Amino acid sequence: MTIDSALFRQVLGHFPTGVTVVTATEADGHPVGFTIGSFTSVSLDPPLVGFLPMSDSARWKAIEATGSFCVNVLGCLQGDLCWQFAKSSVVEPFDGIDWRPSPITGSPILPDAIAWIDCAIEQVVEAGDHQFVMGRVLEMEHAHPDLDPVPLLFYRGKVGRFEA
Ligand SMILES: Cc1cc2nc3c(=O)[nH]c(=O)nc-3n(C[C@H](O)[C@H](O)[C@H](O)COP(=O)(O)O)c2cc1C
Repeated sequence: MTIDSALFRQVLGHFPTGVTVVTATEADGHPVGFTIGSFTSVSLDPPLVGFLPMSDSARWKAIEATGSFCVNVLGCLQGDLCWQFAKSSVVEPFDGIDWRPSPITGSPILPDAIAWIDCAIEQVVEAGDHQFVMGRVLEMEHAHPDLDPVPLLFYRGKVGRFEA
């Protein structure tokens, strides 16, 4: 049975996701990052998280070469960053962003991310035209509850905010 790829996208687009920007710092100090919706928690003991980049993604190859990454969970006011880090045409998406290095791997932490998770790449598994990347969590932080952090959500091709 063949599955129509347009239908596949449409149906899977009915599953809402959060929005993250996965980042790393290359050996020469250059920051690299891309928008990832396939981020997931994997294991508590040991602490593992994962995401699925396209196998041929240049940004993923640059991140993989560093051996580590930081996941930035975007807040509801960061829709512009979602698109900025999703377009290959934006060659330097970090321009104008006051990022700081994560404590263990030195990967970029974006200002106003509602949480970040600093990881070492543990395992990369082939998964069709994507790869499943597992990272061991080394350090992490979330926004203070008093700030009432609200995540950015992606649903049917658009971003919006979560309402309880
Ligand atoms: C909301 C959203 C979620 C995305 N999630 C993923 C993802 O999980 N995996 C992926 O490979 N690309 C994902 N993308 C697309 C990548 O961000 C985009 O292909 C990448 O930045 C292009 O980098 P490249 O030049 O290395 O291919 C997503 C884009 C958006 C807007």
